[in-house]
Amino acid sequence: MRAPDTRFIDRPMTDADIAAVIAMERQACLHPSHAWSDDNYRSSLRAGYWARVRCDADTGRVCAVIVAMDGVDEVHLLNIAVDQAWHGQGMARQLLSVLYARSTQRRAALVWLEVRPSNAPARTLYEREGFVQVGVRKGYYPAPEGREDALVMRREVALPPLTEAPDALD
Ligand SMILES: CC(C)(COP(=O)(O)OP(=O)(O)OC[C@H]1O[C@@H](n2cnc3c(N)ncnc32)[C@H](O)[C@@H]1OP(=O)(O)O)[C@@H](O)C(=O)NCCC(=O)NCCS
Repeated sequence: MRAPDTRFIDRPMTDADIAAVIAMERQACLHPSHAWSDDNYRSSLRAGYWARVRCDADTGRVCAVIVAMDGVDEVHLLNIAVDQAWHGQGMARQLLSVLYARSTQRRAALVWLEVRPSNAPARTLYEREGFVQVGVRKGYYPAPEGREDALVMRREVALPPLTEAPDALD
């Protein structure tokens, strides 16, 4: 097993992180208007969605965020963003591996997401991670000129077999 990276601390996101997360994400996105709003984060936290931040262990500065919504036997990745200074160094992949581990624990065999066709970095990330496109939502996202479609992508998470129920149950 790989040793934890002591440069970072991963912890649940709170309302107190929202301003820093939005500032980070607006820099990270291809277009600042693609970043999540204060309301998006606030309502996700209120709804109890799984939201984690990765912070610099020395300064506490937010380096990345990931938000997902649990379904019965699936998980919906709602957002992921990495500080521009850390792009291309595997941080998004690391956060996704935490999401898959959690999905395995919850016995959620599928991870779903939506992505803008114009978001080449995110599409490459998801394709490298084994997500496959399974649909298109027409005009899903607001865009600088009109609306932009969403590509719907899905990835299977391998689940270990359930252990036998103990005899004592009958
Ligand atoms: C998409 C994003 C999260 C990727 O984060 P990252 O930490 O740079 O990604 P990683 O370093 O883990 O890279 C993962 C894979 O994606 C590829 N990738 C990442 N950025 C890329 C880019 N700009 N162009 C092409 N490929 C890219 C990498 O090559 C890598 O594949 P590899 O390991 O096989 O080489 C980051 O660009 C970001 O924060 N974007 C703004 C927010 C956003 O668009 N989120 C997605 C919402 S759907």
